[in-house]
Amino acid sequence: MIKKIFFWVLGIAVLIQFIRPDFKNPKVDETLALHADAKVMGILKTSCYDCHSNETKYPWYHNLAPVSWVMSSHINDGRKALDFSNWANIDAEVKLKRLKRAKQLVNNELMPKSEYLLMHKDAGLDKDAKETLDAFFDLQMKELYSL
Ligand code: HEC
Repeated sequence: MIKKIFFWVLGIAVLIQFIRPDFKNPKVDETLALHADAKVMGILKTSCYDCHSNETKYPWYHNLAPVSWVMSSHINDGRKALDFSNWANIDAEVKLKRLKRAKQLVNNELMPKSEYLLMHKDAGLDKDAKETLDAFFDLQMKELYSL
């Protein structure tokens, strides 16, 4: 009985590997991408860019189902919600909304996502990083309001 269950589980674990998400990083156009000072860029790239840009870095387990399915949906939904690689293309009103939300999410530790932090300890935001991002989002909003 135990043996049977073991082979079923193993069989399913192997079979699901055939359902492979299509991981692709669309080309980054630097004229459209977000530019900020080095400190802000450093934080964003470490903590947000894997899901919110076309510069996703894929860990070794990115093709391992079912983790790959979760990653793929995070990346697709993350880019759809907010894509720093296409920053210049985002409508000003949408940008304002996302920036407001980004402040809330970062200050309430809802971004980066907790599942992601399990595997990316360095992506966690300390007080200084949170304050830096908060000030950056404020500045971006101020610029948009004065348009
Ligand atoms: C593991 C992937 C991942 C990381 C890392 C990540 N996000 Fe997200 N983010 C998502 C996904 C997926 C969504 C889509 C909505 C949802 O699932 O919450 C999202 C949505 C958002 C939104 C839009 C929310 C809305 O509804 O308007 C903002 C703003 C945001 N993230 C900011 C950030 C910031 C800032 C960082 C870095 C500090 C970050 N995220 C890191 C995956 C991620």
